[in-house]
Amino acid sequence: MATCWLNGKFLPEDQAHVSIFDRGLLFGDGVYEVAAVFNGKLLDADLHLARLEKSLAAICIPNPQPTSAWLEIMQSLAEQNGIAEGLVYLQVTSGAAERDFAFPANVTPTAFAFARKKSLTNDPNAKGIVLHAVQDIRWARRDIKSVAMLAQVLAKQEAKAAGAFEAIMHDRGVVTEGGSSNLWIVQNGTAVTRPLSHSILAGITRDVTLELAAMGVPVMERAFTLDDVRAADEAFMTSATNFILPAIRLDDAAIGNGAPGPITMRLRDAYFVRAHAKTT
Ligand code: PDD
Repeated sequence: MATCWLNGKFLPEDQAHVSIFDRGLLFGDGVYEVAAVFNGKLLDADLHLARLEKSLAAICIPNPQPTSAWLEIMQSLAEQNGIAEGLVYLQVTSGAAERDFAFPANVTPTAFAFARKKSLTNDPNAKGIVLHAVQDIRWARRDIKSVAMLAQVLAKQEAKAAGAFEAIMHDRGVVTEGGSSNLWIVQNGTAVTRPLSHSILAGITRDVTLELAAMGVPVMERAFTLDDVRAADEAFMTSATNFILPAIRLDDAAIGNGAPGPITMRLRDAYFVRAHAKTT
């Protein structure tokens, strides 16, 4: 039985229970983070925990653990579960209270974390993924990494039913982001991604990719459309649990020549080199 962590204790996953009155369950009143485990070590967990602070502050939940404690809990979960490559998920909700929409007084947040194996090095999706366009029906604060994700659940289910790996969410044709990733295109050698705002999540992998691109790939942060994706030389998605994955098709339209693009794969390789350097 895998080991998880709940409200201060490590315990078997089948013994971890939360109240039916937890506001995360009742209202989606909670936030989460997902960080990769690579070579048995956390990758960029400090950056994920900094974003956790921002998400918690945005919905007025006190952080139940200092960053140093979160780092220990996350690393320990990777070790206790024997994870060389995978992820650690953590979630904080405002806690369990009588059902009332407004914030309850004196409630202790509910916090938990678990770890999962996932192959990052030998990912068959590196051969190229298919995107499926879905209207973005989310709320206006997509920068908060909220657990209220019904729109993404529906978008990703629709993508899966269409045989695609990721949903490309758009607002009247203008791309916002992936169902659980940030999206990029390459036009005439320049990597393009949407600028940060309340409209998208500030992806940690997006940030790192911007850093890596500084080594020689011109970057432009601007919005782009579904038509831009169809006409792009390359496209790719970024996320903590997929790193950088090339997209080779948007529904029926091939992207570029329908194979992973050279700039995408250069960035993907650079991402792995950096990940190795940070974890060994
Ligand atoms: N999702 N945009 C959305 C809507 C996301 O859910 C995610 C990550 C990202 C990429 O952010 P990052 O690079 O920090 O992982 C962008 C995680 C992986 C998930 O929900 O599983």
